Amino acid sequence: MIINLFDLESKFSGNLPEDIEGYYSSGARDEITLKRNRSIFNEYEILPKFLRDVSHVDTSISVLDLKIDSPILLAPVAMQQMAHPDGEVGTALAAKKFNTIMTHSTISNFGINDVGPLHNKLFFQLYFSKDREFTKQMLQNCKQLDYKAIVFTVDAPRLGTRERDERNSFKMPDNLKLGNFIGTKFEDFNKIENYEGSSMSIHSDHLFDPTLTFDVIGWIKETSKLPVLVKGILRPDDAQKAISSGADGIIISNHGGRQLDTAVPTLKQIEPIRKQVGNQTLIIVDGGIRRGTDILKCIALGANAVQIGRPILWGLNYAGQEGIELVLNIINNEFTESMILSGCRNIQEIDRDLVVKR
Ligand code: FNR
Ligand code: LAC
Repeated sequence: MIINLFDLESKFSGNLPEDIEGYYSSGARDEITLKRNRSIFNEYEILPKFLRDVSHVDTSISVLDLKIDSPILLAPVAMQQMAHPDGEVGTALAAKKFNTIMTHSTISNFGINDVGPLHNKLFFQLYFSKDREFTKQMLQNCKQLDYKAIVFTVDAPRLGTRERDERNSFKMPDNLKLGNFIGTKFEDFNKIENYEGSSMSIHSDHLFDPTLTFDVIGWIKETSKLPVLVKGILRPDDAQKAISSGADGIIISNHGGRQLDTAVPTLKQIEPIRKQVGNQTLIIVDGGIRRGTDILKCIALGANAVQIGRPILWGLNYAGQEGIELVLNIINNEFTESMILSGCRNIQEIDRDLVVKR
């Protein structure tokens, strides 16, 4: 019986080849940040308010002028067809059905030409490549295809080492493609032969540009003519620099514990970053969000919205697009329940005084 997201996680674990399951589930090195992203939620407790007529609860919000039904977004997750043939197409259609935003990864099986036309609330996640001309072309194509924002991931000057991928010599199956790289020099990472360790790591060394600095944010905005959200921020001073460099919002993230191990868990950084950037700046957060009450805590501490990563894969693997719809149904119902039981009738009422640190 599937009652919560962990039920889907346990089905997922037994259902995929070991190397693929390892790539999807693992974190960097000792996986301490991966675990802390979740355990920190227990360090905050809710102080519910009662007798507030919660017969109607409104979970809707606006993100960059897009009106969506709930503050739960779908994070960029690479290579989704390894979980199910529906892949990113299924994710986009599920996002559309639930009127929420999906961010489409650069490193996806279905490319922007396939996914872009499916939903009018899509963001595109940018891995800024060493080939600036390629990056420029991709950004301009996103604008043409009506993507609504660029999510610029900054926590990956290179890939963090996931030791399970090294041991398993992880490689994307030969029958899949990377849709955004077809016909380019970044196309054939799954054809790399005679390597040791993770082929994803070899591919990203080839692709990712480690020379970038804050001034590239202006270039991305100018080139794409789209709003830019900077993903992977963990420090108030970096948040401030991103905004001063022209960013339209911040995504507090440690990449689901996959980059620098022992990096700070995201929940801890919401309040200090909100204090630094002020009330007007869009803040989205991800990392270990699995329960309705997790979302309540993130918003109470200052986030405008949250996004989920791995649960997309659990749902996809379980039942393709319908599995993601199940994930969104479960997590949205839990969130609504937590609002009712804590006396919040809309997102604005989820105040800082709703949570206390243990
Ligand atoms: C990711 N994430 C990610 N982020 C990004 O900016 N571009 C990407 O291509 C990917 N790919 C990716 C693949 C897999 C398998 C995972 C698990 C994660 C990170 C993702 O956007 C998000 O930050 C985390 O997944 C959030 O944490 P949870 O919800 O997975 O705990
Ligand atoms: C990952 C990259 C692709 O986390 O973002 O594997």
